[in-house]
Amino acid sequence: MANRKRLIAALAVGFGLISNLAVNASPTCPDEQATEQKPTDVALCERLEPIVRRPSALPLNEYEAKFNEYIGAMCHRNEAGGWKVDKRVRDTGPWIGTYANGKWTGQGFGTHAPVLIWYSPEMYAWLKANRQDDGTAPATAAAVPDGAMMIKEMYPYPAAACAGIDVKYLLPLSQASAVMVRDAQGSHDGWFWGWYGWGPNSGWSVDWPAKPNSPYPNMGFGQYCTNCHASAKDNSTFASLKNIKGEPGDPLVFLSQNFFLDPSWQSLQMRIQNAAAKDAASAGNDPDYDPTFLKIFWSLGGPPLRNQIVPMQPETYDSVWPKAPKPGVPNAASQFVTSDQCLGCHSAGGTGLQFDMTQPGPDGKLINISPYGTWRGSPMGLAGRDPIFFAQLASETDTFHKGEAATIQNTCLGCHGILGQRQYGIDTAAKTGSCAPLSRDMVDAIPYSATPDPVTAPGPCPGCIRCLMCSAEACPAAAGCPA
Ligand code: HEC
Ligand code: HEC
Ligand code: HEC
Repeated sequence: MANRKRLIAALAVGFGLISNLAVNASPTCPDEQATEQKPTDVALCERLEPIVRRPSALPLNEYEAKFNEYIGAMCHRNEAGGWKVDKRVRDTGPWIGTYANGKWTGQGFGTHAPVLIWYSPEMYAWLKANRQDDGTAPATAAAVPDGAMMIKEMYPYPAAACAGIDVKYLLPLSQASAVMVRDAQGSHDGWFWGWYGWGPNSGWSVDWPAKPNSPYPNMGFGQYCTNCHASAKDNSTFASLKNIKGEPGDPLVFLSQNFFLDPSWQSLQMRIQNAAAKDAASAGNDPDYDPTFLKIFWSLGGPPLRNQIVPMQPETYDSVWPKAPKPGVPNAASQFVTSDQCLGCHSAGGTGLQFDMTQPGPDGKLINISPYGTWRGSPMGLAGRDPIFFAQLASETDTFHKGEAATIQNTCLGCHGILGQRQYGIDTAAKTGSCAPLSRDMVDAIPYSATPDPVTAPGPCPGCIRCLMCSAEACPAAAGCPA
């Protein structure tokens, strides 16, 4: 049940990648604005420049708050300041019309919703030096310089609806944007990836503290975006000069069957809205609990108060990714990564292309039968998040074997949290020569700045995204880390 709900949520969000179905198809451009969309506060933009260019220097939530100020003020829409922009809103795949049940509908098959990309001056300079189509590009491309940014604004399908409008008067309020910020220190692939939406109605927010539904983070290093971007010819970017205003050539053009977008599409939209309203109305009806369970549950005093519950960080925020390589050093320290690093390829719909690895269930909703989906709800996938396990562990350490808590915790977590336990051993061995035991409280560690780092206490580590990863390796001395 939970799995299915998650799948549907994942499909619905989809980072604007997956088709966006027909819901957003529009004969006119809904994102056309009455006024010119340009930087609102030039002084603010200048102040934030050095900060937004270095995502690895701040805990994720703090970086995101700055990024929000920067992009929120439209600092990237700065052609006078050397930013470049695509020639027009363009498709990244075909948009196909289908006639069924008396109606036309359209579906996009782009890798992203229609795009309009903005390139920071460094990114543009890199493209000029490394991606010329005239044979002058070097055989081996240089690394994209740190601090280079691309802001990919996304517009509704089909691109044709917005393509004719002067980009100055567009802002993608209906679709939001995807962003790439270069920071080779941050991760093995060297990019900070993210989804960003303008304003409180966009659904975008800073990732920590987590929302009650524990969504996957909007931004971060090691995001699933690499499952496509790693196939780019170099530097994980598909960026091409011919897309950019003022450069020779033309962007790729895809089939767009937008001919049927006449007023009859309104009735289609109404049908979709009605269906969505019905879904929303039934969302609260979780299946009833077993009456025997309820009887025992209430006989034990019912649910504890909120502040009596030991919070565990949401699985979706439990993110460990391959670290940036160091010259000549094998990257053994990043041996074990978290499962969010796998779902981009191994979960249903994770590729963003189709409803792959799904099967309709008895209620007509899709079941996630992918490797990730079937593993996630299995006893093994839940071994380290199982409240019965933690209750048993607590009874061992708090009641039966009080003096041996450290050994017991490390032993149990050696199977129930095997990757974390091993990785912690590897990390501490690299620093001290011997594996330190993993303890129960480390499992509760929450990401970003909210808790001090239990490993390198005395103080929180300002350069670390995730406190548990504070180590000389994860955090260069320049980030102010304790050695
Ligand atoms: C399904 C494959 C796929 C996934 C997943 C994907 N992208 Fe892309 N992305 C592409 C392709 C293909 C392009 C080039 C599109 C074009 O220019 O026609 C692209 C272009 C971009 C661009 C413009 C710069 C460039 O490299 O061309 C940005 C920025 C971007 N993607 C960000 C993201 C972010 C952030 C994520 C994850 C949240 C993501 N992408 C996930 C396929 C993907
Ligand atoms: C970039 C895409 C991608 C990511 C990310 C990815 N995988 Fe895979 N994985 C694949 C592909 C493609 C195959 C199939 C390779 C083949 O059959 O030759 C595969 C195969 C596998 C298999 C073998 C499955 C079988 O039935 O034989 C396992 C196990 C696996 N992956 C685990 C993982 C784990 C664990 C992670 C995360 C740490 C992960 N993968 C991340 C693309 C990915
Ligand atoms: C050698 C690996 C290993 C170690 C060490 C280990 N476990 Fe387990 N544990 C498992 C496996 C495998 C299962 C699932 C067994 C099954 O489903 O048949 C399990 C299941 C459980 C369950 C049942 C969970 C449920 O929800 O039904 C509890 C409770 C549990 N373990 C507690 C502990 C405690 C406490 C410790 C430390 C004293 C511990 N385990 C150490 C492998 C291990």
